[in-house]
Amino acid sequence: MKKQRLDRFISNQLNLPRSMSKTQIHRGKVKVGNTVVRDPSTIIDVDTQAVFYKDQKVEYNEFLYLLMNKPKGVLSASEDKTQKTVIDLIPDNLRRNGLFPVGRLDKDTTGLLIITDDGDFAHRCIHPSKNISKTYVAKLDDELKEEMIELFSKGVVLADETLCKPAILEIMDTKTAKITITEGKYHQIKRMFGTVGLGVAELERIGIGRLKLPDNLKYGETIVLSKDDLLKILE
Ligand code: URA
Repeated sequence: MKKQRLDRFISNQLNLPRSMSKTQIHRGKVKVGNTVVRDPSTIIDVDTQAVFYKDQKVEYNEFLYLLMNKPKGVLSASEDKTQKTVIDLIPDNLRRNGLFPVGRLDKDTTGLLIITDDGDFAHRCIHPSKNISKTYVAKLDDELKEEMIELFSKGVVLADETLCKPAILEIMDTKTAKITITEGKYHQIKRMFGTVGLGVAELERIGIGRLKLPDNLKYGETIVLSKDDLLKILE
């Protein structure tokens, strides 16, 4: 049983400001079951009571899970005083309080970024002990060599002597690699290639777990993830 104030429920689920949610309730636009309820402080049980706004059922989702194709030039942060963040790019119909990016992509990195308001889920995605794979395509400034595959598979030691877990390197063409890691150290991919004398010119994340960046999703676009999508990440 999960109890919540009616005005909060309407405001969260329909993404309305709390003041507007209250006004709409006062105006008789909200029913709980068959009954018009005009008191915003009414407590409802979100699991068992059906709520209707203008006669449309309001579905209850405790958390929201979004996938954005992060463009270059925006920060993976919830807010910033001067720079644009990924949260600023979320369309109004998907906005809610408390959304934050799961882990960080560098400002110049593009691709798959999860945004949610579910802290436990985020923790499970990024904690190295969970071994969730993250796959990137990197365009390098010089040629890859076959021996790098074995080197990366053994776990690279970064310049500051940090040991990375084994990574899977696939050479796609002379200067393009697909690389899969199961942790997320600061600038990890760039620093890993740095150990073999290669600079990363372009970096895109294309997958987390079994979840892939959809081909047709444009830079800056966001979609809502389903329960099946979440299982593709966590399984
Ligand atoms: N590794 C990096 O170096 N940068 C990213 O944005 C992600 C992984």
